[in-house]
Amino acid sequence: MKVGVLASGTGTNLQAILDRVHGREGVDVVAVASDQPSAKALKRARSAGVPTAVFAQNEYAARADRDRAMAEWLAERGVELVVLAGYMRLLSPEFLERFPQRVINVHPALLPAFPGLDAVDQALAYGVKVFGATIHFVDEGVDSGAIIFQRGVELADATSADEVMAAIRPIEHELLCRAILAISRGAVSGDPDHPRRVVVRDRA
Ligand code: GRF
Repeated sequence: MKVGVLASGTGTNLQAILDRVHGREGVDVVAVASDQPSAKALKRARSAGVPTAVFAQNEYAARADRDRAMAEWLAERGVELVVLAGYMRLLSPEFLERFPQRVINVHPALLPAFPGLDAVDQALAYGVKVFGATIHFVDEGVDSGAIIFQRGVELADATSADEVMAAIRPIEHELLCRAILAISRGAVSGDPDHPRRVVVRDRA
């Protein structure tokens, strides 16, 4: 299965994919794209020999134009699964139509709590005692697609986002890699009786 990754920032999730999934069980990362020319994720991809491209919004008249160019670039590389690994922009409906049920995202909260930006700060401000990470399919809403994996971590005394992220990051990396492998094995499907429920027949 050919994987394309979109990332806007540091790219630790991308690095986990490159280290743990790339080149295994027929899964290959064949493209990494970013909206940010200076994203560290791009450097990580280049170091692994993976083709990269930048689709900066200021070079396109509209989001749909940028997304069309990005979808075209990914499709040219044969991408079958698009992984949002810290990609900080909403994708247009047209982009999602090009990759139906084939775009997944990692979010640093237990959805449906705290969607959108600054999820960990939202959770801290709310005073929650359990934080967590979610891997989900991407739909047209904000972090609203069907959930593939989720795990919580109790941090009753956490006061800073750094502290929470230090606990959540390894969970994100593990669950995102697991989700990619499970999708490539054909082990992830929808429950016909319950459209929001994802069934994973996972070995791990
Ligand atoms: C992760 O926390 C992810 O949940 C969120 O953005 C962050 C990206 O981190 N969507 P990294 O760039 O993979 O290190």
